[in-house]
Amino acid sequence: MNILDIIAKKRDGKELTKEEIKYFITKYTNNEITDYQASALVMAIYINGMNEREITDLTLEMAYSGDVLDLSSLGEVVDKHSTGGVGDKITIILMPIVASLGIPVAKMSGRGLGFTGGTVDKLESIPGYTTNVPVDKFIENVKRIGISLIGQTLNLAPADKKLYALRDTISCTDSIPLIASSIMSKKIASGANKIVIDVTCGSGAFMKNTYDAKELARVMTEIGRLAEKETVCIITDMNEPVGHAVGNTLEVIEAIDVLKGKEMPKDIKNIITELGANMLLLANKVKDIDEGKAKILENISNGKAYNKFLELVENQGGDITYIENTDKFEKAKYITPIIAKASGKVAKLDAYTIGKLSVYLGAGRMKKEDDIQKEVGFVFCKKVGDDVNEGDILGYIHSNDEEKTKEILKQEIFTIE
Ligand code: URA
Repeated sequence: MNILDIIAKKRDGKELTKEEIKYFITKYTNNEITDYQASALVMAIYINGMNEREITDLTLEMAYSGDVLDLSSLGEVVDKHSTGGVGDKITIILMPIVASLGIPVAKMSGRGLGFTGGTVDKLESIPGYTTNVPVDKFIENVKRIGISLIGQTLNLAPADKKLYALRDTISCTDSIPLIASSIMSKKIASGANKIVIDVTCGSGAFMKNTYDAKELARVMTEIGRLAEKETVCIITDMNEPVGHAVGNTLEVIEAIDVLKGKEMPKDIKNIITELGANMLLLANKVKDIDEGKAKILENISNGKAYNKFLELVENQGGDITYIENTDKFEKAKYITPIIAKASGKVAKLDAYTIGKLSVYLGAGRMKKEDDIQKEVGFVFCKKVGDDVNEGDILGYIHSNDEEKTKEILKQEIFTIE
């Protein structure tokens, strides 16, 4: 067996055997297959797809490419994952809430991919917060305080870690076999018993339409069934950014505000209650979805979720004075208003455009080794459906580069009709 034959087979639209998939994953993880060969195969998978048997084999090989955590000592662990989006700070809000309701949270998140942000990049904008935690400490944290949010630093699904970063740099992010295997391999390796997946759908998601989102949901639910991990997928809208903020520090500040009980945008409320209620139901903590939704909101208003977040940040080395007073976060050099040129209703605030512009500002990566600028991005004052008058401030661009701000202001970010 050799990699050239495997690439040629998939290039020609043929089905790969379990042994060929295993050969690729093992050798790529061990650096015996180069990034350019892996790129060719990934592109062939992207173009020609995979059947369900190939996707399941790929997922399991990726899941077992490193260590597989045993979290049985923690009880019923219900994990959450998102297929990615723009302004998606849901993990940072929701996980402390469910931890405060007694569900152990042992979660591994990813970095930004393509035009979408990543929870690890966001958490690292809290000074001192480390996402790089050894496995025994990770489990001990969950036992002691009920929650740990870390990056893919443990040797869990190392094949996914390499492939995820590679896909980002070769325009191969939005593929059902590659997304399903990436997410489910991480979930299997990280030891959760049950999984809730937010399958985002719209311009700012990898799945652009409901048909593809449903298919991705179906494939992941089926992999979950085969791996004996009960999996619930919820399709959520990603045509406009989630909430008001886009960009690492800016999103963390928005998440903190929600946890502090400040009024939250409608979309954030819908997503956290829907996902959270399903997590509580899977964990047998509530009798139905409505009770679950009420409990999610109750633990924001009684402060328990915020206190759990403070505990999490402190426990992972973060400076909680930034959480207590978010004015301490470093700001971008130029904060420039976006002014409405007409009166009417906001018809569109396109999540994909905002995701791309955020990467342009430096909030995301063009290449896997790029550094990101934590403080740049957008804060929107208006969302789709809101009324505006000419001259109103629609939002702010947070930038470290005046020229980039000028370029962005030339574009029609908001469509007002
Ligand atoms: N999230 C992941 O973990 N992997 C993907 O491929 C996309 C979103």
